[in-house]
Amino acid sequence: MKKILLSGVKPTGRPHIGNYFGAMKQFVELLSSGDYDCHIFIADYHALNLLQNATEMRQNILDLAIDYLAIGLDPHKATLFKQSDVSAHTELAWIFDTLVTMPYLMRAHAYKDAEAKNREINVGTFNYPVLMAADILLYDTDVVPVGQDQKQHVEYARDIAQKFNNTFGNTFKEPEALIIESVATVPGTDGRKMSKSYGNTIPLFASRDEIAKAVMSIVTDSGSDIPANVYAIHKLFKPENELKDTYDANKGKYKVLKDALIEDIDSYISPLREIRSDIASDTEAVRQILIHGAEMARERANGKLNKVKNTIGVA
Ligand code: TYM
Repeated sequence: MKKILLSGVKPTGRPHIGNYFGAMKQFVELLSSGDYDCHIFIADYHALNLLQNATEMRQNILDLAIDYLAIGLDPHKATLFKQSDVSAHTELAWIFDTLVTMPYLMRAHAYKDAEAKNREINVGTFNYPVLMAADILLYDTDVVPVGQDQKQHVEYARDIAQKFNNTFGNTFKEPEALIIESVATVPGTDGRKMSKSYGNTIPLFASRDEIAKAVMSIVTDSGSDIPANVYAIHKLFKPENELKDTYDANKGKYKVLKDALIEDIDSYISPLREIRSDIASDTEAVRQILIHGAEMARERANGKLNKVKNTIGVA
């Protein structure tokens, strides 16, 4: 029996190399290993907390589907779908809502960060970990490949599975986060975690000009031989033993090192860009893939939800 893998990305705009190295690349590698039954989805209802513009949402969903295909997710091998197409996710989230307490959700990092910034937090953001638990538990998921920032969310899913099992009897499997340490938190151009909200990203399908602009903006701390922020990004694209000569020969020459980084990112990304533009030329085919994926996902999710409804006594 293959292990069940599930993960998702929010359609909030172009994915960056942090999303890719931290999570999306693992989707492709684990799928190709043949050891996993993979479910990869577009977390549009999670994105709705941030993105409340129908035109942009529609475009981002299609773009993310294209991105998934462009990085090599084979829709014949993986189930690729959109969260909102499988209403069992939100239905199960409601069932979990009745078990999860408010103080418990108040301990979530994302909630605490938002609160510290004094933002008016919507209920969807507060409830984010519960919907994510539903995403994961609905498919009897074994592994969830993610970046470090999602670790706590996977722990919430485990806790919620336990709580449900303790209350109603053994129903849900406890999933494990799969986080690769070397890329758990990919740094951005300013050395902080790469994140759209910090404006420090390098888009995954960036053009050469965009790559050059982003690399030139990498913050360098004058005085050191090796510009740490440049190197941290460089080693994503080339093995460290191959970088050694370049960095040894160019100590303190930040411009030369940045030029080398631009070259290496571009040669890594340009084939992906080309594949992406081919796929993007047939959006109807992409839509069909999502429709088919949703059918597959619904079949599995509805089967599980029916069992849960029976377990809690509403069916
Ligand atoms: P999202 O859309 O914010 O990010 C997608 C994936 O990219 C990872 N990531 C990073 N990894 C390393 N370094 C970084 N700088 C970096 N930035 C982002 C994230 O950890 C994530 O794996 N809540 C999820 C979406 C989601 C989900 C799920 C994931 C909804 N339901 C169920 C797994 C299972 C999110 O916001 O990801």
